[in-house]
Amino acid sequence: MKKLCLLSLAIALASPGAWAATADNKEAFVSDLLKQMTLDEKIGQLRLISIGPEMPRELIRKEIAAGRIGGTFNSITRPENRPMQDAAMRSRLKIPMFFAYDVIHGHRTIFPIPLALAASWDMDAIGLSGRISAKEAAADSIDLTFAPMVDVSRDPRWGRTSEGFGEDTYLVSRIAQVMVRAFQGPAPSAADSIMASVKHFALYGAVEGGRDYNIVDMSLVKMYQDYLPPYRAAIDAGAGGVMTALNSINGVPASSNTWLMQDLLRKEWGFKGLTVSDHGAVFELINHGVARDGREAAKLAIKAGIDMSMNDSLYGKELPGLLKAGDIAQSDIDNAVREVLGAKYDMGLFKDPYLRIGKAEQDPADLYAPERMHRSEARDVARRSLVLLENRNQTLPLAKTAKIALVGPLAKAPIDMMGSWAAAGRPDQSVTLFDGMRAAMGQQATLTYARGANITGDAKVLGYLNFLNFDAPEVVDDPRPAAQLIAEAVKAAQQADVVVAAVGESRGMSHESSSRTDLNIPASQRELIKALKATGKPLVLVLMNGRPLSIVDEKEQADAILETWFAGTEGGNAIADVLFGDYNPSGKLPLTFPRSVGQIPTYYNHLSIGRPFTPGKPGNYTSQYFDDTTGPLYPFGYGLSYTDFSLSDMALSSTTLNKSGTLDATIKVKNTGRRDGETVVQLYVQDVTGSMIRPVKELKGFQKLMLKAGEEKVLRFTLSEDDLKFYNTQLQYAAEPGKFNVQIGLNSRDVKQQSFELL
Ligand code: BGC
Repeated sequence: MKKLCLLSLAIALASPGAWAATADNKEAFVSDLLKQMTLDEKIGQLRLISIGPEMPRELIRKEIAAGRIGGTFNSITRPENRPMQDAAMRSRLKIPMFFAYDVIHGHRTIFPIPLALAASWDMDAIGLSGRISAKEAAADSIDLTFAPMVDVSRDPRWGRTSEGFGEDTYLVSRIAQVMVRAFQGPAPSAADSIMASVKHFALYGAVEGGRDYNIVDMSLVKMYQDYLPPYRAAIDAGAGGVMTALNSINGVPASSNTWLMQDLLRKEWGFKGLTVSDHGAVFELINHGVARDGREAAKLAIKAGIDMSMNDSLYGKELPGLLKAGDIAQSDIDNAVREVLGAKYDMGLFKDPYLRIGKAEQDPADLYAPERMHRSEARDVARRSLVLLENRNQTLPLAKTAKIALVGPLAKAPIDMMGSWAAAGRPDQSVTLFDGMRAAMGQQATLTYARGANITGDAKVLGYLNFLNFDAPEVVDDPRPAAQLIAEAVKAAQQADVVVAAVGESRGMSHESSSRTDLNIPASQRELIKALKATGKPLVLVLMNGRPLSIVDEKEQADAILETWFAGTEGGNAIADVLFGDYNPSGKLPLTFPRSVGQIPTYYNHLSIGRPFTPGKPGNYTSQYFDDTTGPLYPFGYGLSYTDFSLSDMALSSTTLNKSGTLDATIKVKNTGRRDGETVVQLYVQDVTGSMIRPVKELKGFQKLMLKAGEEKVLRFTLSEDDLKFYNTQLQYAAEPGKFNVQIGLNSRDVKQQSFELL
């Protein structure tokens, strides 16, 4: 075998770019190649650089040809990447480059933000969004995405809540698997697949106070039970890469954390792929205070098992000296290089370095051509992700013949519609709410528009949001006085049958580095809502935001509230579909909406306590805040429909479960209303008594189903011992005999319950 590999290597070296003759045995191939490499070439492979518009392309190509760069990110077209791959093919060993990008929720067609995808609870829709993202990205020469982001987030002050799939371990884990499989398709080596690099390993969503980049201090039980499973699920689904988190964990930064990167990831979980640091994270080990200087930072990171260092030059600068001084071993470098080469092998790049770059004559004449996009799929996925929070007096759906006043700073906001991390999406291709409603209404109806308010009246906040942005200010104020904007909107409202107000956050408010101390709609917009309410006209709020907002007042002021998150390229059409009843909303909240910041954390699956607050009973000496209503504004799993659903009592197939057996929970779901519709039936389990405190309930299954008006179906959920296992104080994963409650509901709060005994 060995001889064969050397032979194939020799053939490959003899003919430029002809890696087609490489061996099929990955390990032997990589080992043989490694033996041919100089130290410089090895270290070069560990360098992952960002390509910005300002970077000297000529110099980069020179570096690549000298074997000093392993991959790039942010260069995202075939004509950009081809010359770099050509340069790699001129290098001594012709090791191909890979090209990465943050393809998070779409590439050219932007799907709803991940939090919104989670709100669909629709695994097919989510998978479709991932598959299309991969196809579009691969067609633009991307080999790897820094996604999915599966950080469980339970503190909505954190701006990256928008980028994840919510607060629940089970739901996030399910989506993690779906996304990895969707990105990677049949294999990461397929021409229309991209490798998934799951992030941010680990626990990034639990940063203290929701402050980005902050510390995480957490018990091992909580980690294993609540925060680690989604990363594990992604890895078990075959994710080829793992990106480390920017936070520290119990006193050790993720990027220098040997326990995390070696003991847990590689030894315990058996991960065999590529690890990359997050942007500049190796250098930041100095700021964390665990490395004296760049030299020590590089040493800690490579020894911990960070294969590629993203966007710093520390590995290149420091590894040779560290090796010479005996501070690191040759095997530290070789192990990292082996993973980089292995990932390139898995991406199919040794067989064909131009697999996703293709031939120049096949380059798209127009990157933004409509036929390169997937609008109908994006529209369908988007409407599945919208959550109807309120609908008094059946204010929605709206009649297409109505006189509608559309107001609010987000009604005509193409950039915001795409949400943050919008990859190669273009605002001029995204459909605003105004455009979507206009198109849906036809000519008979009138749609008047008034801005009504700016996103924020706070100049400091505005400055921050625009500072974040790269090309041009994203949040552009209407310079007229606030009172004048409101007066204009009120006038429009007075002349209309119904008012639709598009309010919430600009996309930059729910982004990396955008932590907030309050969860209110900004004051400028709250003033607008108050004034609109005073007109007495029916008021529909279309919320756009990337995190839960505390909308206690707005809940009372509005007749209907539709949570639309940031719905993507086709957002305007999708929202219009729901507003006018062409699609019956079916989304459910993937995280709890608190009444106020002071209530955080409000996640539903908290541990049992000794003095729980019990609604309806005096609150004294129970766990509560005495100055506000106890409990969240909207519970996890909540969402309305234009029709009504009822649940029968639940039946269990037995009152006992043997360790090797299964138990069925069945329930009848009926559409009791007059419209067809979909809903999500959710199954929760509570381990009533255990060797340690267990959560009050935990999601263990769900089914999204469509029922015609009047239709009824029996749903069956099958439980086994596996669904009851948890990590005990010794970190053993096992189920304990005893009583379990099973709950089924259309949200996490209002449930039917039965009990059984695990024998
Ligand atoms: C983010 C990562 C991202 C990387 C590359 C970092 O700032 O934390 O999530 O993948 O940049 O764009």
